[in-house]
Amino acid sequence: MWQGSQDEDIQAAAAALQAGELVAFPTETVYGLGADGLNARACAQIFAAKGRPQDNPLILHIANEEMLAEIAEPLPEAGARLAKAFWPGPMTLILKRRPLVPDVVTAGLDTVAVRWPDHPVAQKLIEAVGRPLAAPSANKSGRPSPTLAWHVQADFGEAIAGVIDGGPTDVGLESTIVDVSVTPPTLLRPGGITREALEGVVGPVADPEQSERPKAPGMKYRHYAPNVPVIRLPNATLETARAFLAAHEGETVGLLLDDESLNALAPFSPSVLVWNLGPKTHPELAAARLFDGLRRLEAAGCAVMLIATYDERGMGLAVANRINKLSRPYEEGDL
Ligand code: TXA
Ligand code: MG
Repeated sequence: MWQGSQDEDIQAAAAALQAGELVAFPTETVYGLGADGLNARACAQIFAAKGRPQDNPLILHIANEEMLAEIAEPLPEAGARLAKAFWPGPMTLILKRRPLVPDVVTAGLDTVAVRWPDHPVAQKLIEAVGRPLAAPSANKSGRPSPTLAWHVQADFGEAIAGVIDGGPTDVGLESTIVDVSVTPPTLLRPGGITREALEGVVGPVADPEQSERPKAPGMKYRHYAPNVPVIRLPNATLETARAFLAAHEGETVGLLLDDESLNALAPFSPSVLVWNLGPKTHPELAAARLFDGLRRLEAAGCAVMLIATYDERGMGLAVANRINKLSRPYEEGDL
């Protein structure tokens, strides 16, 4: 596959997309694996390339209001307020679909997921194609989402036409998904816009369990995980971490921990590989560093990884959500 970051690469990518091919591109959350969102055959290729279950619908990415009007019914009031506050940005809205949207995109649902990304390359690309782009995260199904172009290369090699390199993504975790086709609005996936920020605009948002509708179909699958076990440490258990390191002495062990824990545990033997997630009080840094760290420690040959847990406040909610899905809790037998 080709990889590039210049204007001519965006033009080449647009031409490939118009011809029904797959091209990965940067957004401010994670890299997306793009296809012409109105071309059912192109969208079907996304599922094949990712090994993605057919019942897991795709997000359509837009760059103007005309595209929105083509694919979704007019925004309900809560949706309009959220769109005004957070679009373009790391938020996806679930809306009533219009007939133009292929069934393969929505997995047969009567709703469609729509995002207007706030990334200059993504916006230029969508405008150049002139149609909404379907784009899941550009990783093989179940793997950590890509926050750098090489993550995409590592998962897909020659299986896709190319990737536009936009450098590291800003947020590092996927968009917040809010279902505004129901009342009250329901938070299907925490992400780049915090729950507190949403509620500041539309009042209380519901959790999926409290609503009638099935939650985002994709949330039921194993997600975000490297190929080795990841064990999450309950808060304030440095003793456990020390005992774990002692029990695994000589093995290549990866630590994805906050500043404070790493400082308390240092120094480390050479077989311990460290990835700093930043200060506990700043989960935005953990969000930006998480997926890259998982891939790097995996590539470095770690047999097992220990990861920190985060308070579910602000961006900590999305960080904790991803960590809970990619790891299992520490158990006594782990020593
Ligand atoms: O930040 C992001 O959202 C990235 C970038 C590339 O935009 N995309 C992304 O896509 O994370 P993906 O496919 O990895 O996750 C999309 C999620 C899935 O959990 C899917 O089930 C859910 O959105 N989804 C899509 N359409 C839906 C619908 N109509 N109703 C409920 N959930 C839906
Ligand atoms: Mg994904």
